[in-house]
Amino acid sequence: MVSAVNLTTYLFEVILSHLVLTSAVLLVALTAISWYIRDSHKVGGFSQKHVFITGCDSGFGNLVARQLDGKGFHVIAACLTEKGAADLSALASPRLKTLLLNVTDSESIRRAVEFVSREVGERGLWGLVNNAGRSTPIGPTEWMDVNDFTKVLDVNLMGVIEVTLQTLPLLKKAQGRVVNVASILGRLSLTGGGYCLSKYGVEAFSDSLRRNMVHFGIKVSIIEPGFFKTAVTQRDLIEADLRRLWARLPQEVKASYGHTYIDNYVKAQNFSLGILCSPDLSKVTWCMEHALTACFPRTRYSAGWDAKLFWIPLSYLPSFFQDFVTNLLLPSPKDERM
Ligand SMILES: *[C@@H]1O[C@H](CO)[C@@H](O)[C@H](O)[C@H]1NC(C)=O
Ligand SMILES: *[C@@H]1O[C@H](CO)[C@@H](O)[C@H](O)[C@H]1NC(C)=O
Repeated sequence: MVSAVNLTTYLFEVILSHLVLTSAVLLVALTAISWYIRDSHKVGGFSQKHVFITGCDSGFGNLVARQLDGKGFHVIAACLTEKGAADLSALASPRLKTLLLNVTDSESIRRAVEFVSREVGERGLWGLVNNAGRSTPIGPTEWMDVNDFTKVLDVNLMGVIEVTLQTLPLLKKAQGRVVNVASILGRLSLTGGGYCLSKYGVEAFSDSLRRNMVHFGIKVSIIEPGFFKTAVTQRDLIEADLRRLWARLPQEVKASYGHTYIDNYVKAQNFSLGILCSPDLSKVTWCMEHALTACFPRTRYSAGWDAKLFWIPLSYLPSFFQDFVTNLLLPSPKDERM
């Protein structure tokens, strides 16, 4: 038999648990809404702002240059080749300026920054987008020599550092922003060569830069794209370079991998890149634009479903699990030595 006291206690408990649940849901909803409002808040005066972007010949750099040009920014687009610069100019408004820049050449950087300095004048530089990068040589570590590492590190890491250091005075003047293109390969070292190292380096450089420069009003954002169809993931270029590395290996080393290894490796890599690479580069340029136009830019942006749902979560899991997944993606050597 239920007494009146028991019933009251029971009802009280039901109401209380409902209240707790409702408040929790409300709290989560309110946090999400206020985060969304804060995240959507934009700065104004794009037509008074200059943005300097490296690596605009193709890919993310090329697209974001045109995108920001369309929004009214004064874009200074650095290209490696004359053709890249001419093709971009033809597609953009007369406001967009191009220049030639080789980020591994200090003299070329000095000239470019001088040009940027003249363009921005007393306003200073609102945005620097360090986008230029290369992927090859990329592949099994044992196939590389030290020059293969430096070739990539010079562009992807030292280039980012030197361009940033040279433009910091201009950024300080405008209390501007630095947007560095890292990668999910800056969180997971899925392959050998300089690429993953360089992107880990970009992550570390950006973290220290952000912590050091926050005192001067400079904000630093890191973009971590998953796999996208750009020159960096171009299958024929990567394959040709891998075959170059393989061809120069001593017979003894080739035998330790097995004579079919190179073909299996290329096939597996082609297959993964074919499945993974998204053609929608605007997912990445959306992040770049947000980092340059939001009042509260995010510290890290992941771009692409593979990054958000797979690579970034995987990067938080224990190493043994990461090793297991990584080894599923590429073939194992079959030693043919006697
Ligand atoms: C970039 O500069 C480096 C160092 O001066 C040079 O070795 C390299 O050939 C240059 N690359 C291009 C594409 O001009
Ligand atoms: C890999 O992909 C490239 C580009 O799509 C193609 O040219 C090449 O034949 C493929 N190689 C293999 C071994 O599947």
